Amino acid sequence: MSVAIYPGSFDPITYGHLDIVERAAAVFDRLVVAVLRNPRKAALFDEDDRIEVIRRAIAEELPPEVGRRVSIDRFDGLTVEAARRHGAGFVVRGLRAVSDFESELQMAHFNRKLAPGIDTVFFMTALEHAYLSSSLVKEIARFGGDVRGMVPAAVAERLQSVAAGWSADPTVG
Ligand code: PNS
Repeated sequence: MSVAIYPGSFDPITYGHLDIVERAAAVFDRLVVAVLRNPRKAALFDEDDRIEVIRRAIAEELPPEVGRRVSIDRFDGLTVEAARRHGAGFVVRGLRAVSDFESELQMAHFNRKLAPGIDTVFFMTALEHAYLSSSLVKEIARFGGDVRGMVPAAVAERLQSVAAGWSADPTVG
Protein backbone atom coordinates (compact mmCIF):
# COMPACT_ATOMS: atom_id res chain seq x y z
CA MET A 1 0.00 0.00 0.00
CA SER A 2 1.41 3.41 -0.94
CA VAL A 3 1.18 6.05 1.76
CA ALA A 4 2.05 9.73 1.30
CA ILE A 5 2.18 12.65 3.67
CA TYR A 6 1.24 16.17 2.58
CA PRO A 7 2.83 18.51 5.14
CA GLY A 8 2.14 22.21 5.37
CA SER A 9 1.15 25.15 7.48
CA PHE A 10 -2.34 25.28 5.93
CA ASP A 11 -3.01 28.61 7.66
CA PRO A 12 -5.54 28.40 6.09
CA ILE A 13 -6.03 25.72 3.44
CA THR A 14 -6.78 27.21 -0.02
CA TYR A 15 -8.30 25.74 -3.15
CA GLY A 16 -4.72 25.23 -4.38
CA HIS A 17 -4.03 22.89 -1.45
CA LEU A 18 -7.40 21.16 -1.75
CA ASP A 19 -6.78 20.44 -5.41
CA ILE A 20 -3.43 18.84 -4.51
CA VAL A 21 -5.19 16.73 -1.85
CA GLU A 22 -7.64 15.43 -4.45
CA ARG A 23 -5.01 14.69 -7.06
CA ALA A 24 -2.57 13.08 -4.63
CA ALA A 25 -5.38 10.91 -3.23
CA ALA A 26 -5.87 9.58 -6.77
CA VAL A 27 -2.22 8.50 -6.92
CA PHE A 28 -1.59 7.10 -3.42
CA ASP A 29 -3.66 4.57 -1.48
CA ARG A 30 -3.59 6.75 1.60
CA LEU A 31 -2.77 10.44 2.05
CA VAL A 32 -2.08 12.08 5.40
CA VAL A 33 -2.55 15.85 5.43
CA ALA A 34 -0.10 16.87 8.17
CA VAL A 35 -0.60 20.29 9.74
CA LEU A 36 2.58 21.81 11.09
CA ARG A 37 2.50 23.15 14.59
CA ASN A 38 5.21 25.77 14.40
CA PRO A 39 5.69 27.78 17.59
CA ARG A 40 8.15 30.09 15.76
CA LYS A 41 5.66 31.09 13.08
CA ALA A 42 2.68 33.15 14.23
CA ALA A 43 -0.37 31.47 12.74
CA LEU A 44 -3.76 33.12 12.37
CA PHE A 45 -5.58 29.87 13.15
CA ASP A 46 -4.51 27.38 15.78
CA GLU A 47 -4.03 23.75 14.71
CA ASP A 48 -7.48 22.70 15.91
CA ASP A 49 -9.12 25.34 13.71
CA ARG A 50 -6.90 24.53 10.75
CA ILE A 51 -7.67 20.82 11.09
CA GLU A 52 -11.39 21.45 11.51
CA VAL A 53 -11.65 23.52 8.32
CA ILE A 54 -9.55 20.99 6.37
CA ARG A 55 -11.89 18.24 7.58
CA ARG A 56 -14.95 20.25 6.53
CA ALA A 57 -13.43 21.24 3.19
CA ILE A 58 -12.66 17.60 2.32
CA ALA A 59 -16.10 16.40 3.45
CA GLU A 60 -18.02 19.21 1.76
CA GLU A 61 -16.06 19.82 -1.41
CA LEU A 62 -14.36 16.59 -2.46
CA PRO A 63 -15.97 13.32 -3.59
CA PRO A 64 -16.54 10.82 -0.72
CA GLU A 65 -14.07 8.31 -2.20
CA VAL A 66 -11.32 10.94 -1.81
CA GLY A 67 -12.32 11.55 1.80
CA ARG A 68 -12.02 7.82 2.52
CA ARG A 69 -8.35 7.81 1.48
CA VAL A 70 -7.37 10.98 3.34
CA SER A 71 -6.66 11.50 7.03
CA ILE A 72 -5.54 14.63 8.84
CA ASP A 73 -2.93 14.85 11.55
CA ARG A 74 -0.83 17.49 13.25
CA PHE A 75 2.91 17.37 13.76
CA ASP A 76 5.83 19.30 15.10
CA GLY A 77 9.46 18.52 14.46
CA LEU A 78 10.65 17.02 11.22
CA THR A 79 8.41 16.15 8.30
CA VAL A 80 10.35 12.93 7.71
CA GLU A 81 9.69 11.85 11.31
CA ALA A 82 5.98 12.47 10.82
CA ALA A 83 6.20 10.51 7.55
CA ARG A 84 7.89 7.60 9.34
CA ARG A 85 5.21 7.58 12.05
CA HIS A 86 2.56 7.20 9.38
CA GLY A 87 4.54 4.65 7.38
CA ALA A 88 4.64 7.10 4.46
CA GLY A 89 7.17 6.54 1.68
CA PHE A 90 6.36 9.84 -0.04
CA VAL A 91 6.14 13.53 0.79
CA VAL A 92 3.72 15.46 -1.41
CA ARG A 93 4.25 19.15 -2.17
CA GLY A 94 2.67 21.53 -4.66
CA LEU A 95 4.57 23.80 -7.01
CA ARG A 96 2.76 26.95 -8.09
CA ALA A 97 5.54 28.59 -10.06
CA VAL A 98 9.25 28.44 -10.76
CA SER A 99 9.75 30.70 -7.75
CA ASP A 100 8.58 27.86 -5.47
CA PHE A 101 11.01 25.43 -7.02
CA GLU A 102 14.27 26.53 -5.45
CA SER A 103 13.18 26.22 -1.82
CA GLU A 104 11.16 23.07 -2.51
CA LEU A 105 14.14 21.45 -4.23
CA GLN A 106 16.32 22.26 -1.24
CA MET A 107 13.74 20.83 1.17
CA ALA A 108 13.39 17.68 -0.93
CA HIS A 109 17.18 17.16 -0.87
CA PHE A 110 17.35 17.74 2.89
CA ASN A 111 14.51 15.32 3.47
CA ARG A 112 16.11 12.66 1.29
CA LYS A 113 19.41 13.08 3.11
CA LEU A 114 17.59 12.64 6.43
CA ALA A 115 15.45 9.77 5.19
CA PRO A 116 16.76 8.16 1.99
CA GLY A 117 13.75 5.86 1.79
CA ILE A 118 11.29 8.74 1.56
CA ASP A 119 10.85 10.52 -1.75
CA THR A 120 9.26 13.88 -2.49
CA VAL A 121 6.63 13.96 -5.21
CA PHE A 122 5.62 17.33 -6.66
CA PHE A 123 2.25 18.16 -8.12
CA MET A 124 1.98 21.25 -10.30
CA THR A 125 -0.73 23.43 -8.82
CA ALA A 126 -3.67 23.71 -11.21
CA LEU A 127 -3.39 26.82 -13.35
CA GLU A 128 -6.63 28.30 -11.99
CA HIS A 129 -5.22 28.12 -8.44
CA ALA A 130 -1.59 28.96 -9.15
CA TYR A 131 -1.93 32.58 -7.93
CA LEU A 132 -3.24 31.57 -4.50
CA SER A 133 -1.30 31.97 -1.28
CA SER A 134 -2.55 31.61 2.28
CA SER A 135 -0.86 34.86 3.35
CA LEU A 136 -2.41 36.95 0.58
CA VAL A 137 -5.82 35.41 1.19
CA LYS A 138 -5.50 36.45 4.85
CA GLU A 139 -4.49 39.96 3.81
CA ILE A 140 -7.47 40.26 1.47
CA ALA A 141 -9.83 39.09 4.22
CA ARG A 142 -8.14 41.50 6.63
CA PHE A 143 -9.17 44.41 4.42
CA GLY A 144 -12.70 43.16 3.88
CA GLY A 145 -12.15 41.57 0.43
CA ASP A 146 -14.23 38.65 -0.77
CA VAL A 147 -12.18 35.43 -0.54
CA ARG A 148 -14.90 33.06 -1.76
CA GLY A 149 -13.55 31.19 -4.78
CA MET A 150 -10.04 31.30 -3.30
CA VAL A 151 -10.64 29.14 -0.27
CA PRO A 152 -13.14 26.42 0.65
CA ALA A 153 -16.44 27.69 2.09
CA ALA A 154 -15.48 26.55 5.60
CA VAL A 155 -12.39 28.77 5.46
CA ALA A 156 -14.21 31.74 3.92
CA GLU A 157 -16.75 31.61 6.76
CA ARG A 158 -14.02 31.44 9.39
CA LEU A 159 -12.05 34.28 7.79
CA GLN A 160 -15.16 36.43 7.58
CA SER A 161 -15.86 36.07 11.28
CA VAL A 162 -12.22 36.78 12.19
CA ALA A 163 -12.22 39.81 9.88
CA ALA A 164 -15.41 41.09 11.52
CA GLY A 165 -13.51 41.09 14.83
CA TRP A 166 -10.63 42.95 13.21
CA SER A 167 -12.83 45.70 11.84
CA ALA A 168 -14.52 46.07 15.21
CA ASP A 169 -11.08 46.57 16.77
CA PRO A 170 -8.62 48.13 14.29
CA THR A 171 -5.72 47.72 16.73
CA VAL A 172 -5.68 43.91 16.34
CA GLY A 173 -4.98 41.57 13.44
O1 PNS B 1 2.93 25.25 4.00
P1 PNS B 1 4.39 25.52 4.19
O2 PNS B 1 4.60 26.56 5.28
O3 PNS B 1 5.07 25.90 2.90
O4 PNS B 1 5.04 24.14 4.69
C1 PNS B 1 6.41 24.05 5.02
C2 PNS B 1 6.74 22.70 5.67
C3 PNS B 1 5.80 22.41 6.81
C4 PNS B 1 6.60 21.60 4.64
C5 PNS B 1 8.21 22.77 6.15
O5 PNS B 1 8.41 23.93 6.89
C6 PNS B 1 8.59 21.57 7.00
O6 PNS B 1 8.77 20.48 6.51
N1 PNS B 1 8.69 21.80 8.33
C7 PNS B 1 8.97 20.76 9.29
C8 PNS B 1 10.42 20.84 9.77
C9 PNS B 1 11.32 20.09 8.83
O7 PNS B 1 11.14 18.93 8.54
N2 PNS B 1 12.33 20.82 8.33
C10 PNS B 1 13.30 20.25 7.43
C11 PNS B 1 12.77 20.29 6.01
S1 PNS B 1 14.06 20.81 5.03
